[in-house]
Amino acid sequence: MRVNERILTYRISEEAFLLLNTLTGAIDITTPQIYDALENFSAVQHLTLDEFTKERLRKRGYIFDSPDDETRWLQLIKDAHGKQEKTLDYIVSLTYNCNLRCAYCFEGDLTYTRRNYMDIDDVQHVFAAIDELSDGYSNHRKLIKLFGGEPLLPRNKQAIRRVLTEARQRSLPVSAVTNGTYANDYADLFDEFADVIVAAQVTLDGSKEIHDSRRKSHDGRGSFDDVCAAIEMFLAKNIKINVRTNLDMQNIGRLREHFDLLVTKGWMDNPDFGCSLSPVEDHSCSGTYAFYLPENLLVKEFYDQVKESPEMADAFRLGLFRNLKHIKSVVNTSRPVLPLLHYCEANNLEHIVFGPDGYIYPCTECLGRPDLAMGKFHPQLEMFDDVVKMWNGRNVLRMNKCRECDIALLCGGGCAYSALVVNGDINEPVCNNARETIFAYLDYIKADLADKASA
Ligand SMILES: C[S@@+](CC[C@H](N)C(=O)[O-])C[C@H]1O[C@@H](n2cnc3c(N)ncnc32)[C@H](O)[C@@H]1O
Ligand code: SF4
Ligand code: SF4
Repeated sequence: MRVNERILTYRISEEAFLLLNTLTGAIDITTPQIYDALENFSAVQHLTLDEFTKERLRKRGYIFDSPDDETRWLQLIKDAHGKQEKTLDYIVSLTYNCNLRCAYCFEGDLTYTRRNYMDIDDVQHVFAAIDELSDGYSNHRKLIKLFGGEPLLPRNKQAIRRVLTEARQRSLPVSAVTNGTYANDYADLFDEFADVIVAAQVTLDGSKEIHDSRRKSHDGRGSFDDVCAAIEMFLAKNIKINVRTNLDMQNIGRLREHFDLLVTKGWMDNPDFGCSLSPVEDHSCSGTYAFYLPENLLVKEFYDQVKESPEMADAFRLGLFRNLKHIKSVVNTSRPVLPLLHYCEANNLEHIVFGPDGYIYPCTECLGRPDLAMGKFHPQLEMFDDVVKMWNGRNVLRMNKCRECDIALLCGGGCAYSALVVNGDINEPVCNNARETIFAYLDYIKADLADKASA
């Protein structure tokens, strides 16, 4: 007999512990005796519990009779992942250039030092590549995302018209990830291609004062007013708009104000409107952004504010806090949730990023770095097999450090790009405070857990 090593335990009170079986999805509230027995097993190689309790633990997958039991569960998980509905994003970066100089932009000086733009011929090559690559993704829902730099710069209009025309011919929906400043210049194109443009994402980081201090042009002009006008324009055209709010030390404390702004604008009542919170990321661990705050501290601060303003709990989407999203669904969904084998879709080559330099990248963070490219689409499609193999199927079961980690199936193994640029090896993960983030959420729901424990 052996104890499942993939159990996360959390102390709810003196009398109660949460057991989270990250392998089977079982969640139980248990006594200190059972907790101690499981904890001490590796030292004493014996479970000091009665047969009835042992049988219940066995049924819930906390103890195994043979090492094959874990292998069987892992195979079930892999199979279930294989059967899940999947999406493939073709991300078309029309240019590296951008009119803004956002303080935290992960693209850094690429947006003002590299003058690459896609022309109509490049777009033709992108679609020729899409046609070839699509065969390998026959079960995926496919989507095109306009990306940059800033995709909606005025000089990209002809290239974007071509993207929309080609997308229409293939019945591929298109969304735009834009800073919003020139969105109104595209209003006529959005009307003409209303059947193709299905959604847009615009970043709005808070009040005018905060937003303008960090998302501004090289001459210091803030973009708040343009972004608000862009949101209004998208909503008027019934295009789904996702406002992204990037959080750090500068604005996390002012979320209530942000929420009030979205309500006052009347956007929150619009079914086409949503707001996603995201951590400001530093995946290359540069340490250069002064307002950076680790994810777990953002989560703690968020929930401290939710306690004061409970209406904010459901107002914001939290999907970009990947570890938080996962633990929330594990704890709050009545049926078992599939464990997180990988941190993001790029690990399954579900982001195919076309750069304006003719390279194909596995992730938007790699843009502008041909040394990290996984292929070329110009002059013709060529995939770099060793890079494709390296990214494809990266998951926690493949990485030594994660294989040994009790929270692996809640964490997903962190950002692949991070591992590559920080540790020089995609399979050497950078642990992104996933454990602390999970515990920050459990701290928030501790009182509810205690109520359940005493019920
Ligand atoms: C690099 S921008 C390119 C598209 C467009 N210029 C824009 O701002 O939406 C793509 C997305 O990345 C987000 N972003 C940029 N730097 C980030 C960072 N360090 N952490 C989190 N999100 C970031 C932006 O808010 C935007 O939603
Ligand atoms: S607008 Fe987008 S690409 Fe431009 S600097 Fe800001 S985040 Fe980066
Ligand atoms: S990245 Fe770190 S925390 Fe996450 S599963 Fe791997 S070892 Fe564990």
